Amino acid sequence: MTELAAPVITIDGPSGAGKGTVAQRVAETLGFALLDSGALYRLSALAVLRHGADPADGEAVAALAAAMQIRFEAEPGQGVRTWLDGEDVSQALRNEETAAMASKVAVLPQLRRQLLDVQRGFARAPGLVADGRDMGTVVFPDAPVKIFLTASAQVRAERRLKQLKEKGIDANLPSLLEDISQRDARDSERKTAPLKPAADAVTIDSSALNIDQVCQQVLEIAEKNGIRRGESES
Ligand code: C5P
Repeated sequence: MTELAAPVITIDGPSGAGKGTVAQRVAETLGFALLDSGALYRLSALAVLRHGADPADGEAVAALAAAMQIRFEAEPGQGVRTWLDGEDVSQALRNEETAAMASKVAVLPQLRRQLLDVQRGFARAPGLVADGRDMGTVVFPDAPVKIFLTASAQVRAERRLKQLKEKGIDANLPSLLEDISQRDARDSERKTAPLKPAADAVTIDSSALNIDQVCQQVLEIAEKNGIRRGESES
């Protein structure tokens, strides 16, 4: 792979470990750009659903992904607003149907190849925080800082239950735990880019940590590697 355009901090791990929030806060603190790679798989899934394409047809799904017009706009403290082909899809992106389709199309090597350059294109000065499953292993193998953020399935299910309750959505712990375990198995057992820590990643178990403590640890690791706010060190 060619030299990185800017320092990249990769944050990989299973769903519910807190990657999204941590990546967003670390990016804000450092003044870095943010790549939510899961959103690209979710957008591809939405395109498949909207066009009624066959999710098993790798070429067709990759072609749909190549044609997507995507826009991300950060809303400080609120997350990111997302547009697909001129339509605000921020809510549709987060629903269960989209999530399920995303994990289905994520197994397609043609789609993963198509999204590779799109993802690498996010690396720009002064730096990038990239959140996903294969950021440190496949997309940015030369990243100077690689974090693998995990938490027990029980803790992740409890966090998800709390989030859903706050949104007024009814759910129960055993079925969330079952969903999380199935998704973990699918993500770690697939042939292309399975979920696993890079050999040079630092693993942080967030089961007994809050978001601030995790961010603090990530920022300390970044600083040890010469990464500071808003400056790109060579
Ligand atoms: O992280 P998020 O839940 O938004 O990811 C949606 C789906 O996209 C996941 O289930 C996972 O299978 C897939 N994904 C992936 N590689 C990434 C990011 C997400 O395969 N780098």
